[in-house]
Amino acid sequence: MTAPATPSIATPTQDRARAGAPAKIVVRGVSKVFQRKMDELEALAGIDLDVQAGEFVCLLGPSGCGKSTLLNIVGGFENQTQGIVHVDGEPVTGPDPRRVFVFQEYGIFPWASVWDNIALGLRGRPKDEVARITQHYLELVGLKGFEKSFPEELSGGMRQRVAVARALAVSPDIVLMDEPLGALDSLTRLQMRGEILRLWQREKMTILFVTHDVDESVQLADRVVVMSPRPGRIAEIVPVNLPHPRDIGSPEYGRIKNRLYELLGVSHAI
Ligand SMILES: Nc1ncnc2c1ncn2[C@@H]1O[C@H](COP(=O)(O)OP(=O)(O)OP(=O)(O)O)[C@@H](O)[C@H]1O
Ligand SMILES: [Mg+2]
Repeated sequence: MTAPATPSIATPTQDRARAGAPAKIVVRGVSKVFQRKMDELEALAGIDLDVQAGEFVCLLGPSGCGKSTLLNIVGGFENQTQGIVHVDGEPVTGPDPRRVFVFQEYGIFPWASVWDNIALGLRGRPKDEVARITQHYLELVGLKGFEKSFPEELSGGMRQRVAVARALAVSPDIVLMDEPLGALDSLTRLQMRGEILRLWQREKMTILFVTHDVDESVQLADRVVVMSPRPGRIAEIVPVNLPHPRDIGSPEYGRIKNRLYELLGVSHAI
């Protein structure tokens, strides 16, 4: 049995990393302490992570281990308490249109049509350019014919496609996905994983993808960053050296999955 079909590729990002190319995202010694009313909460401690250009990295870990916090810091929406975060060799000082977010379910505006939702980030550009780009991403995520529909008329999976199309329409370098498939049923999730892989292979952006689903991480990632709570630390970074589409029945796939469960402290034999 195989995961949803996507063109077969090797793992070029890992080759690039081996060739010593500078990392796209560099996180060094990052910690985060939230000040609360009565006390403080250490959410992240000593995070070191390099992400190569074009790499697909999953952040995997239990609820509360700091996955969203780390994503927000890389996105420039949250300041780290200590450490450095560089993107393309420059310190991250705030949000940047080259880095976009896709969230679990709040990503699209209910009052705007599919077309307007996708075109939202393109305001200020020439009309024909906006139309061309919007059409391209509408088709890429399989929503042709639904451009005039409103979110309430769409299924959950279709809404997430709109969110993905809107994120990609601005040609981001980096896409930060915070459990983008978390609200979907299991079949739609599987289909959407295949679609996200297809888009990634086509558009070649760098993806940081938060999930607490072990299968999702093994199906998608070049590397899985396993985090432990609290404060959130990196327990281990597990490479997935398997070409797409991944054979989920292969011994190597099973070995990686078991290792991830082990790291998460769950005894699980597949
Ligand atoms: N703005 C905030 N103020 C105070 N504490 C916060 C804030 N944001 C997050 N935290 C705390 O930091 C820790 C990490 O939160 P975070 O949202 O990053 O976890 P997560 O791994 O994304 O969890 P989940 O899988 O449930 O989304 C949690 O203990 C949370 O309570
Ligand atoms: Mg979260």
